[in-house]
Amino acid sequence: MTNKLKYFIGNWKMFGDFSSLKIIYQIHRFCVRFKRRHKKNKIILCVPTTLIYYFNTKLKSKFISIGAQNCHSHKTYGPFTGSVSASMLKNAGAKYVILGHSENRAEGDTNQLIKKKIESALNQKLNIIFCIGETFKEKRDGKTLLILKNQMRGSVSKKYDLKKIIIAYEPVWSIGTGKIPKIQELKKTFKYIKSEFKKNFRTTTFPTVLYGGSVNVNNISIFSSISEIDGFLVGEASQSSEKFIDIIKNYYK
Ligand code: PGA
Repeated sequence: MTNKLKYFIGNWKMFGDFSSLKIIYQIHRFCVRFKRRHKKNKIILCVPTTLIYYFNTKLKSKFISIGAQNCHSHKTYGPFTGSVSASMLKNAGAKYVILGHSENRAEGDTNQLIKKKIESALNQKLNIIFCIGETFKEKRDGKTLLILKNQMRGSVSKKYDLKKIIIAYEPVWSIGTGKIPKIQELKKTFKYIKSEFKKNFRTTTFPTVLYGGSVNVNNISIFSSISEIDGFLVGEASQSSEKFIDIIKNYYK
């Protein structure tokens, strides 16, 4: 394990209402209790848009950052019924936004559209959690690294403020299935993502790269042995304070 900041990011997806704010409060209490021990952790909760403003006005926690899960590609305002722009998220108090999640790719988000969304979000000085990952068929066909390269090159430009982009490697076949990649596969993939990103976008530092897909309290110790992993994007298990807290605790066991 390195001394680098470790990210534990919750992706609540389309779960959570005002009663779920108690989950955030319980995670906050955990952070207060263990603030010395866990000062190298960065906890971010990407909640439904409806809860962002409330978090910032009523529950502000210096231990937790709040994020959104998607935004429209148009920068500010426009006739896009049902959509929310990056500037609206910023205005509500979001600091992060997940973009490129496979559940949104499945609904039509292409690399190009994701690029526009990234541009809009960076324009608002939001931090991006940029998801990439291969499907099971792409993995079986030996195309994982090629897909990841295309996703990165297709949605990120050298001109961006790359420090604001966190990559989340989420194999599509792992999300919500309980299946996770083998350790050797993960090591290889993480090394590849980092070196490809550094080389192609000519940054001086390696990017922060997270793992996402069926992370839970039982398998987190497998991931903690892989130094290339800078943190986790947790879906289902982040919707319960107990499970999310136990993931953090078990990571350090
Ligand atoms: P999961 O979801 O942890 O429920 O597999 C991860 C994600 O979709 O980000």
